[in-house]
Amino acid sequence: MTARPKLLITRRLPDAVTKRVSAHYEVELNADDHVMSADELLTRAQGKDALLVTPVDKITPELVEKLPASIKMIATFSVGFEHINVPALKAKGIKASNTPDVLTDATADIALLLLLGAARRAYEGERAVREGTWKSWSTVYMLGVHATGKRLGIFGMGRIGQAVAKRARAFDMTIHYYNRSRLAPELEQGAIYHKTAEDMLPHCDFLSINAPGGPETQHWLNADRIAKMPDGAIVVNTARGGLVDDTALIAALKSGKLFAAGLDVFENEPNLNPAYRELSNVFLLPHLGSATIDTRNAMGFKALDNLDAFFAGRALIDPIA
Ligand code: DGY
Repeated sequence: MTARPKLLITRRLPDAVTKRVSAHYEVELNADDHVMSADELLTRAQGKDALLVTPVDKITPELVEKLPASIKMIATFSVGFEHINVPALKAKGIKASNTPDVLTDATADIALLLLLGAARRAYEGERAVREGTWKSWSTVYMLGVHATGKRLGIFGMGRIGQAVAKRARAFDMTIHYYNRSRLAPELEQGAIYHKTAEDMLPHCDFLSINAPGGPETQHWLNADRIAKMPDGAIVVNTARGGLVDDTALIAALKSGKLFAAGLDVFENEPNLNPAYRELSNVFLLPHLGSATIDTRNAMGFKALDNLDAFFAGRALIDPIA
């Protein structure tokens, strides 16, 4: 029998995925699911053939430089891969994969949850019920913003942006979008394309951020762009926290320029800007976009499909390097 490939898995996996991986690989697991430092990751990578990492593992050029020569492949348990320095991997001849498609619906569902939660003041309402400050039904109590029939701008019309649009159409929302390239009409489905994001922003009663993170989109939603949005607009971010300039968003939420925001992702999460915690008009979730049992199993299986392909000498299914 040929030796099984040796795999370092940096975080705990769903049970069904652990079962499958353990049957085919010699695995080193992270039993208590802590976030590994770069030093620990490098130490534990010794003697391994591949890594299975997550968005919390920063695969920087410095780390790649120090990886043992035995590492030939890195699979990330995520669709986003701005935590991985792809040029550094390519320079070292290390292959890498991600997990697109399987988390599209779960993430789009969370975007709609945040959109409605922010618009209808779900956090404030839930807190009032729990804390007993709700006195009675009233014609003017805790009024929110009507979503049905409004305009939704989508920044980044990839798979997840398109799935958000599909859901928003059920609310009779008019979809505007900015994407690096215009979609084919069958994918666009009547959505209004803008050649620049700046052109789109005045049409955004709601804005859903669905573009990849990384240096190109760092702090994309800044004070100048917020100023271009209609007064009382609502911002939803399920992509990456780095796309939002927190200082600008917090100022706009405090001044009332924006009615509310719904955020699932944060720069430097889980250490979000503490000012968010003080605001009642922001609906916060702890990066739950893909957090359903079905989706996390599917992501794990997709990561394994890519590792299996690599070790069988086949082309990767979802190559990023
Ligand atoms: C991803 O896969 O990039 C997501 O952010 C994880 O939910």
